[in-house]
Amino acid sequence: MKIKNNHSLKKYNSFGININSRYFTTIKNDANIDELLAWRKQSDQELLLVGGGSNMLFKNDFQGLTAIIETKGIEIVKEDGEYTYVKVAAGENWHQFVRWTVENGYTGLENLSLIPGTVGAAPMQNIGAYGVELADCFDELEAVELTTGNIKTFNKQACQFDYRDSYFKSTAFGEYLIKNITVKLSKNSQWKINYAGLKNSLAGQELNALNISNAVIALRQSKLPDPAIIGNAGSFFKNPIISQAQWENIQQSHPTLSGYPQKNGDIKTSAAWLIDQCGWKGRQQGDAGVYKKHALVLVNYGDASGEDVWSLAENIIASVNKRFGIRLEAEPRLIT
Ligand code: EPU
Repeated sequence: MKIKNNHSLKKYNSFGININSRYFTTIKNDANIDELLAWRKQSDQELLLVGGGSNMLFKNDFQGLTAIIETKGIEIVKEDGEYTYVKVAAGENWHQFVRWTVENGYTGLENLSLIPGTVGAAPMQNIGAYGVELADCFDELEAVELTTGNIKTFNKQACQFDYRDSYFKSTAFGEYLIKNITVKLSKNSQWKINYAGLKNSLAGQELNALNISNAVIALRQSKLPDPAIIGNAGSFFKNPIISQAQWENIQQSHPTLSGYPQKNGDIKTSAAWLIDQCGWKGRQQGDAGVYKKHALVLVNYGDASGEDVWSLAENIIASVNKRFGIRLEAEPRLIT
């Protein structure tokens, strides 16, 4: 494991924010993980583990060690009558892994095509799109406890998956390095195409994992900016969950507001709609902007700093709060 000094993270965060990490390294194998644990024992510097850097906003230079997880490997570990179990290293690219499953005839992850980031980052916030989330196909993961070096296995329940949330993003934040995840892919495919846009674009086509994956890719490309071209971190805000009374109150005067009932009776509503209603879609503040095709995505049109993006986000939060009394929460992790 080589440690470099004052290394730019521009290439390692999908917002393309030009900041430096005081120390920088890459983790490619188990030996590198052991070296990282040894470094951590004798250093009081902060450690930042990064996968694809696609759910982070750096506001300043990072003063500790940034370790980019680049471990690779895909392995079929078990098969039974119902499922094929596939174990994947944390550093694999998520979308390339999804395409591997689709091309090899395994089903379950096709709706999660083209989500940026790595496999190891996927359980952190239980990635989801078009009616499916990682938890639906999740079996278990292995993680290294950073203080002891012990490797622990977490089943689905232990991961405490929730909407864009998990044990690793909440209670155990910063305590583990996720080494690999195992997904169970069904042999009896049950396609989930209820999301209106997806159903429409599949009309007249045979339903199979490849066609669904291709339709999801086309849908995402039509609405969401490619981070390789315009810096962004996907949805910048979570969809807020509000009380039924508050939702009905807004819905009376704004019938186009969507709402998805939650188990406890609250309603998850659309952050994009709220932001759009407040007139933010397509607006720019310096090089930071709200994407013109989707109000939930903040973008870096060139040289925006993390502070520029965050100041735009704060203005949006204040404006939605003032008009609708709903406080939006950022989805990406803020590195201050
Ligand atoms: N809408 C607007 N204006 C816009 C865009 C959308 O008013 O500019 C309204 C429309 O009424 C639309 C509704 O918002 O029907 C919902 O929009 P969309 O279907 O695009 O989904 P979303 O709730 O905004 C979520 C995820 C996305 C995921 C899509 C599709 C979150 C925070 N975001 O977005 O995930 O791809 O559903 O399933 O849950 C991500 O997390 O990075 C991400 C892209």
